[in-house]
Amino acid sequence: MKIKIFITGSSGFIGFHTAKKFLDKGYIVRGFDSMNNYYDVKLKKARLNILKKYKKFTFTKGNLENKKILSKSVFSFKPSIIIHLAAQAGVRYSIENPEVYLNSNIFGTFNIIELARKIKVKHLIIGSSSSVYGANKKLPFKEIDKTDHQISFYAATKKSTECLAHTYSSLWKLPITMLRFFTVYGPWGRPDMAYFKFTKKILNKRKIDIYNKGKMYRDYTYVDDIVDGIFKVTNKIPKINSNKKYKDDSLSHVAPFRVLNIGNTKKIYLMNFINVLEKELGIKAIKKYLPMQKGDVHSTLSDTNLLKRITGYNPKTKYQTGIKKFVEWYQNYYG
Ligand SMILES: NC(=O)c1ccc[n+]([C@@H]2O[C@H](COP(=O)([O-])OP(=O)(O)OC[C@H]3O[C@@H](n4cnc5c(N)ncnc54)[C@H](O)[C@@H]3O)[C@@H](O)[C@H]2O)c1
Repeated sequence: MKIKIFITGSSGFIGFHTAKKFLDKGYIVRGFDSMNNYYDVKLKKARLNILKKYKKFTFTKGNLENKKILSKSVFSFKPSIIIHLAAQAGVRYSIENPEVYLNSNIFGTFNIIELARKIKVKHLIIGSSSSVYGANKKLPFKEIDKTDHQISFYAATKKSTECLAHTYSSLWKLPITMLRFFTVYGPWGRPDMAYFKFTKKILNKRKIDIYNKGKMYRDYTYVDDIVDGIFKVTNKIPKINSNKKYKDDSLSHVAPFRVLNIGNTKKIYLMNFINVLEKELGIKAIKKYLPMQKGDVHSTLSDTNLLKRITGYNPKTKYQTGIKKFVEWYQNYYG
């Protein structure tokens, strides 16, 4: 297989799993990541070391904002597909550090889109987020819903990238798919996310912080299902008006552009998630109930019918199974 895929954020949680999937399928992959210290760099290095075992994997360490390093890496590799998953993630951190988000998510994504145009990639896939639905009350979230009221700076940068991407797609007829991920969890996950922090604290017999007194739910999506969706979408290259045949009104009339939700389509209440985690760890959590956090949304739930119609996407992992697999990995990795 000669298809070359350039994956940004390849040492991150979703990027690592995505790169591994493509390598397992025989694709040639170049990863790009700054290896920044937003969370434990050792975990990023451990992910990278797994990828480095593949002969068809090469890697560039660099910042998306550094045009020189980024363009050298892209031009020398000449990928036909770019999957852009590097970003400054995390809702809470964006309240205190908005500028990092501007740089990584907006300038960084702009640099990727511009390069994708220059080398005329066949398909550019960009990671967006369910947080763009912001304060919307109507659930499940559907791609055609308005996304005008983000409530965190992180979400606002994600929405901005969707706008930038649509404009470039329209101006240059650049095929772009934006994937709105819904709370991704699983082995090799992100230490800044609630389920990861809970696990660490429960094992150390420390209190866990439960916001909004636990009265919220999320559409938790197991990472293998996400990666399966990314893999399936890769060769579904959008064309102008190509959503029409999928009987969906979220058409892009002027650009080869699509926005697709990618979630598990199930409501999982936070307390149920914690119950399963306690069961798998065999320890009861010490709980501290707190009010709602700034920037957080109450609930998320995806409608993924469009993705299903286009790719046959069918998330399979129940949260009980996903948590079990995460705990197994955690105990094995951290001993
Ligand atoms: N995990 C989730 O639940 C979730 C939900 C919605 C959206 N997303 C989006 O999915 C994508 C991947 O998220 P993740 O959970 O794997 O996060 P992650 O933090 O584990 O991975 C991101 C990677 O990008 C790298 N990076 C960050 N800024 C960079 C920069 N300026 N230049 C180069 N590299 C940089 C980091 O070092 C990291 O390894 C992101 O776009 C994120 O916003 C994730």
